[in-house]
Amino acid sequence: MSKFWSPLVATLVPYTPGEQPQIPNLVKLNTNENPYGPSPKVIEAIKTELNDNLRLYPDPEGDALKAAIASYYQVDRNQVFVGNGSDEVLAHIFYALFQHGQPILFPDVTYSFYPVYCGLYNIPSNPVALTDSFEINPEDYKQPNGGIIFPNPNAPTGRYLPLDRVEEILAANPDRVVVVDEAYVDFGGETAIRLVARYPNLLVCQTLSKARSLAGLRVGFAVGQAELIEALERVKNSFNSYPLDRLALAGAVAAFEDHEWFEKCCQGVISERERVTGALEAQGFEVLPSKANFIFARKPGVEGEALARGLREQGIIVRHFNKPRISDFLRITIGTAEQNDALIAGLKSL
Ligand SMILES: Cc1ncc(COP(=O)(O)O)c(C=O)c1O
Repeated sequence: MSKFWSPLVATLVPYTPGEQPQIPNLVKLNTNENPYGPSPKVIEAIKTELNDNLRLYPDPEGDALKAAIASYYQVDRNQVFVGNGSDEVLAHIFYALFQHGQPILFPDVTYSFYPVYCGLYNIPSNPVALTDSFEINPEDYKQPNGGIIFPNPNAPTGRYLPLDRVEEILAANPDRVVVVDEAYVDFGGETAIRLVARYPNLLVCQTLSKARSLAGLRVGFAVGQAELIEALERVKNSFNSYPLDRLALAGAVAAFEDHEWFEKCCQGVISERERVTGALEAQGFEVLPSKANFIFARKPGVEGEALARGLREQGIIVRHFNKPRISDFLRITIGTAEQNDALIAGLKSL
């Protein structure tokens, strides 16, 4: 606290990202990064871009990337918005597309950045309880609101809501923007982008951090009808004209061109996820059904915090949330086969 702070800053409760410790040989399963690394074609594209052109500003519109995403998802270029990680895209969404006087709806157990954006922009929120089995019930989203957002699959639960249920929420809220945050959709879910043509109130947000293994490059995007995208462009151009640098643009375009690498990495994560789930269930864990690159698991009768601590002593870090309803659980990112073996053995020894 300082006399130089604005009154708003004093009230902020910032997001706490998962830790990034610099410890050698750590089995790092705490921030849902992809274990396989980006496509070699991405690295090549970034190296090619490492030249004297770095003295020039990048394309403020990120047009080549918008074209690559539009072609991949068969939408128009003016239906695509790009930003510096989906966190930045989400920040602009909260500012540009939610009605600030009315409560935003999101699940009570969800991505913990949503309440942070509400605090930043002074938007009220009304967390909606997930069911006892940690599912989103569309019926609960039929109430007055200033906008709706949920991840699909949800984080940190990993549970996926089928698209016909997503449509129920869209149809019940024609005058409000419904944001589907698909950070993890490529690990077994189906994207809602194919609904964009039918629902002017739908905005789908995605990231290259997870399935495309580029968390360090910071690239995210949103797809929706052109009017929604224009609102995001207006905010972006009132904030930072160049959110994506030349290297990020080049790498992101290449990532969309290497389908083979993408498919292989997603399949690898999915089959390891099923293997880890089976192994943990065999140890007596309850594991929620996941369509993400992580699982959410608890061992009845054992505190989540104690398990996380015990793993850490063995050089394995996972995420534990000391929050109502989920303090028993561990969120475990799916790693390489060797990392997953270490996790399974580590839990067994506890
Ligand atoms: C649900 C969800 N949305 C968005 C993000 C942000 O991703 P990024 O800013 O890396 O694109 C995350 C990151 O973990 C997430 O879990």
